[in-house]
Amino acid sequence: MKGLILSGGAGTRLRPITHTSAKQLVPVANKPILFYGIEDMAAAGIEEIGIIIAPATGDEIREYVGDGSNFGVNITWIVQDEPSGLAHCVLIARDFLGDDDFVMYLGDNMLEQGLTEFVEGFENARSAEPQLGVEHVKPAAQILLAKVENPTAFGVAEIGPDGEVVQLVEKPEVPPSDLALVGVYLFDPTIHIAVASIEPSPRGELEITDAIQWLVTNGYRVNHEVLVGWWIDTGKKDPLLECNRLVLDTLKRNVAGDVDPTSSIDGRVVIEEGAKIVNSTVRGPAIIGAGTIIEDSYVGPYSSIAIDCVITRSEIDNSVILRRSSVTDIPRLTDSLVGRDTEITKGDARPRATRVMLGDHCHVEIE
Ligand code: G1P
Repeated sequence: MKGLILSGGAGTRLRPITHTSAKQLVPVANKPILFYGIEDMAAAGIEEIGIIIAPATGDEIREYVGDGSNFGVNITWIVQDEPSGLAHCVLIARDFLGDDDFVMYLGDNMLEQGLTEFVEGFENARSAEPQLGVEHVKPAAQILLAKVENPTAFGVAEIGPDGEVVQLVEKPEVPPSDLALVGVYLFDPTIHIAVASIEPSPRGELEITDAIQWLVTNGYRVNHEVLVGWWIDTGKKDPLLECNRLVLDTLKRNVAGDVDPTSSIDGRVVIEEGAKIVNSTVRGPAIIGAGTIIEDSYVGPYSSIAIDCVITRSEIDNSVILRRSSVTDIPRLTDSLVGRDTEITKGDARPRATRVMLGDHCHVEIE
């Protein structure tokens, strides 16, 4: 079994962060989203992983991930020149995938449930010995589904009475069910015929949903599982903050950095080695990155402060702050996503006013 992680895409809904960086590298609890997917694959016993990257952000992703040895896997990089769809990713990964079964994972999705059981379910269904009197058809694919309130925004599946997938539609106007395709798929090599047989969708992309429908139409069995636990497509600020909260909730306390005697660290907090907490309160769940200094401040629940930040005379909660940023004299910063190398400060200049230098596609809410 091989792995294919899709880590291209422009990330337009996370601008301006994604003007300069890949959406899959935005950290959740101080770890890039993409790393969770790689770790899940490694935990499911997958050693060969292909990662699809876009020309604009591919180099940065390669730099962060390295050769895979940190994760105990081998990585093959595959560049997708244009965002031509999820099925197009399978097309261009043909040489890497060979004739192996594989799990495909959308690099900006996060799941509570690991991949191990999902992968085992497919392997067991494919290797099961035929039993007398029981019809046995090996599945060519297995999809993961989740009940959603807005199925028109997703690929949607309809399930037959014996648990077999009978129909799939991408972004249907009239959804056949409320079961959305989660960004995790298992395939055998038949999918290569399917992706080569379909036409681009109305949005101009080769849809993996259409390729799976092709399997169904042509008599191949497609199994499904319904997701256990949460699933978040992290491509926008609020879902990203929600994901950050969910992951921080699983944190174990570990205070390795310096905490002076006038500070207090309450609850499940990680203070990485090399971080300094001076005359401040950090209330968990929260994580403070190495090299970060928190002084005369309060860092409240659900905050992830990356490495090399400086927080001075400020109060922060429910926020994700990326590396090398500073927050100075800000009485309350909440529900915020702050990019790298960003300064937020209170000025003394007259006239008293808000002064900003913002990049394109920013969003600022003034108190
Ligand atoms: C893609 C798939 C869709 C799936 C979704 C899951 O949608 O096309 O079938 O339900 O991922 O996140 P996209 O994010 O490209 O709109």
